[in-house]
Amino acid sequence: MENTIDTIYDRRSVRKYIDKEVNPDIVDEILRAGMFAPSGCNKQPWHFVVFNEKDLIQEIKAMHPYASALSTAPVCIMVCGDTEKEMAPGFYQVDCSAAIENMLLCAKALGLDTCWMGIYPWEETMADFTKRFELPQHIKPFALISLGYAENKTPRPKRYDSSRIHYNKW
Ligand SMILES: Cc1cc2nc3c(=O)[nH]c(=O)nc-3n(C[C@H](O)[C@H](O)[C@H](O)COP(=O)(O)O)c2cc1C
Repeated sequence: MENTIDTIYDRRSVRKYIDKEVNPDIVDEILRAGMFAPSGCNKQPWHFVVFNEKDLIQEIKAMHPYASALSTAPVCIMVCGDTEKEMAPGFYQVDCSAAIENMLLCAKALGLDTCWMGIYPWEETMADFTKRFELPQHIKPFALISLGYAENKTPRPKRYDSSRIHYNKW
C-alpha cells in the first residue's frame, strides 16, 4: 500500500480498465472510506448505489454524456446526496465531494483506479437518473465513480503552481 502523500499524487482519472472483477470486500472498504469523510455538522448526507452488472453499467454509460470510463469499468458507484440529512442547503454537494475524494484515494491506495463523473449540476442528467432509479425526492444523484484495475499507468502531471498561493494578503 502506498503512503498517503504518494497516493494523492499518483491518483489519476482512469477511463480504461482491464477485464478483472473487483472483490466485494474491496468495494466495501472504499465505501467505508467515503463514510469517514468530514461533513458539515457530521450530518453524513450521502448514499451509495453500487452497480456491478455489465448491462446495467452500459445503460448508465448511455445516460451520461462524458462516461467513457464506464465502457470497461467492472464497477460503478452512484453517489447521492440527501437533502433531508444535510446541515443546510448547499452542504450535500460539498459533503459528497469530500466522500468521493476519500473513495478515490482509498481505491488508489488499494491498487485500483477510478474516474469521478459529475451528475450534479447538470439538471437534465440529474432528472434522468432520478427517474431511471426511482430516487425519492430528497435523494439527489450527485456523481458516478468508475472503479477497476487500470489498463495503463498514467505518469504524475506537474501541477504545483506557486502563483495560486497567497500568504497573508491576496
Ligand atoms: C466535479 C468533477 C466532475 C467530473 N466529471 C467528469 C466526467 O463527466 N467525465 C470524465 O471522464 N471525467 C470527469 N472528471 C474527471 C476530470 O476530468 C479529471 O479529474 C481532471 O481532468 C484531472 O485529471 P486527474 O483526475 O487525472 O488528476 C470530473 C472531475 C470532477 C472533480
